[in-house]
Amino acid sequence: MKLSNNKILITGGASGIGLGLTERFMSEGNTVIVCGRREDVLNEVAARFPGLITKVCDLAVEADRVELYNWVAENHPDTNVLVNNAGMQNWMNITDDNFFERAQTEITTNITAPVHLTGLFAGLKSLTTIINVTSGLAFVPFTKVPVYSATKAFFHSFTLSARYLLKGKNIEVIELIPPALNTDLGGKGLHDFAQPVSEFIDSVFLRNWLKAKPKSASDLGPLLPTRDLKRY
Ligand SMILES: NC(=O)c1ccc[n+]([C@@H]2O[C@H](COP(=O)([O-])OP(=O)(O)OC[C@H]3O[C@@H](n4cnc5c(N)ncnc54)[C@H](OP(=O)(O)O)[C@@H]3O)[C@@H](O)[C@H]2O)c1
Repeated sequence: MKLSNNKILITGGASGIGLGLTERFMSEGNTVIVCGRREDVLNEVAARFPGLITKVCDLAVEADRVELYNWVAENHPDTNVLVNNAGMQNWMNITDDNFFERAQTEITTNITAPVHLTGLFAGLKSLTTIINVTSGLAFVPFTKVPVYSATKAFFHSFTLSARYLLKGKNIEVIELIPPALNTDLGGKGLHDFAQPVSEFIDSVFLRNWLKAKPKSASDLGPLLPTRDLKRY
């Protein structure tokens, strides 16, 4: 994927990891559209980032997903990147009274919505790239979030198949697999222990730079925090 001059739709792009991607993609010279349920949060972020395009949308609702796609196709037909980032996480036990109800909402948000959006946006003529945000918990479940972990395992598997199936349409499918990061996922405070989103975003863009084969280590300078040098 080229890093600039794209028009990118980032679901859940007004907070957490999505916001980190929004900020970085905008600074790299891309046009970014973000969607989410909370209009006040979208407005706040739009005020901070002039040029950001926002759309209120509840991705757990099928009609909203179709409406989002139709709105993009009509108003932003040059959108070439879809980032399936929006997600939710429920800390719960299988024996909880409302277990099934909460599991259903989680499955709809983390599986049904991105699968549906992938199908819809694969039909958009301009689309070149889909970026799916899965999780390290796709590979090793954390039992406090049993359904969340399973939804991410599903999404990882689906991403591998989509990468193969969409090759013929020249759509590249990229997977981002974040570790635990300090966002409000699951509820305020639950991820306070984790590393900042900015470090993860730096590593995502660093990998792209490495792919682009920089001529010397100094080309990576602005993206590489000094204390991270050893890690790479
Ligand atoms: N933080 C971590 O440790 C971590 C680790 C691995 C993977 N991830 C993944 O990273 C992605 C982003 O999570 P985050 O950590 O950045 O948490 P976050 O700050 O809570 O972000 C989640 C975003 O998704 C949006 N969203 C949730 N449900 C939605 C719905 N029904 N319709 C539309 N938008 C919806 C939220 O916006 P509204 O509330 O305004 O709708 C919010 O902007 C998720 O897929 C998550 O599973 C996170």
